[in-house]
Amino acid sequence: MDLQVTDRVYVITGGARGLGRATADVLVAEGARVVLSGRSAETLAGAAEALGESATTVVADNADPDTPARLIAAAADTWGRLDGALISVGGPPVGPVAGERGISDEQWTTAFESVFLGAVRLGRDLGGAIADDVEETGGGALAFVLSSSVRAPLANMAVSNGLRPGLAMVAKTLADELGPRGVRVNGLLPGRVGTERVAELDEASGDPAAARAAAVRGIPLGRYGEPAEFGRVAAFLLSPAASFVSGAMVPVDGGMLRAL
Ligand SMILES: NC(=O)c1ccc[n+]([C@@H]2O[C@H](COP(=O)([O-])OP(=O)(O)OC[C@H]3O[C@@H](n4cnc5c(N)ncnc54)[C@H](OP(=O)(O)O)[C@@H]3O)[C@@H](O)[C@H]2O)c1
Repeated sequence: MDLQVTDRVYVITGGARGLGRATADVLVAEGARVVLSGRSAETLAGAAEALGESATTVVADNADPDTPARLIAAAADTWGRLDGALISVGGPPVGPVAGERGISDEQWTTAFESVFLGAVRLGRDLGGAIADDVEETGGGALAFVLSSSVRAPLANMAVSNGLRPGLAMVAKTLADELGPRGVRVNGLLPGRVGTERVAELDEASGDPAAARAAAVRGIPLGRYGEPAEFGRVAAFLLSPAASFVSGAMVPVDGGMLRAL
């Protein structure tokens, strides 16, 4: 199947590492061009070197209200068009709602700014900047990197459980609003995909091998996912090959979710 992304341009926030980078790798391999963003110039430089002339980078925090305009400008200045975006960000802090280790008000507020409001602004502004000439461009697409916590709570992940379901409904609402312009909006629900973030979560448990073994027991396919397995699904949803898929939440979890 041809993804039909040759010369199409995608913004990928949180694009230097992890799930964002894995998606950028697939899109570029299929002929697309990407604008990668993140907070560290160093990791972005590494990604840009690996992806060559098909990538440009912007040091930008998703929590910053100026970030969407800077990313739109980078796409326009470098490639002269924008066809879609993958909106990813670092994972929120770990902890329960209540008790001594409970998430503080400050942690809730900081996470809301980057994970929730940052994503809302990016979806709204990047979605609005995608050309609406469907005949000419084949339409555009946004994909939000969310979590299996959209459908079922994760232990000790109060912030993810609190913010992701609301963001999924924002994505669904945006799908209604942007659909008439030919812009599709979907969400991705990773379960346990082996990125640095997941390695850090396992380390934080104090016994990473036991944490991994326990997590794998809940995955019917019996293993963590590879970032490339996520990247292929994300690239498909962003591509014109998925031209009639919008307003969907797509798990990439090896069967882990206990909800349909
Ligand atoms: N991996 C999984 O299995 C899994 C499962 C469920 C949910 N998720 C969610 O999926 C998202 C991506 O996860 P991942 O595994 O790819 O994480 P990761 O390996 O930690 O990569 C996150 C990327 O986002 C960038 N980033 C972090 N904070 C940012 C910010 N405020 N603004 C812009 N860029 C930022 C990071 O670069 P800088 O640090 O340089 O900014 C990095 O490139 C997270 O929100 C995570 O909670 C992942």
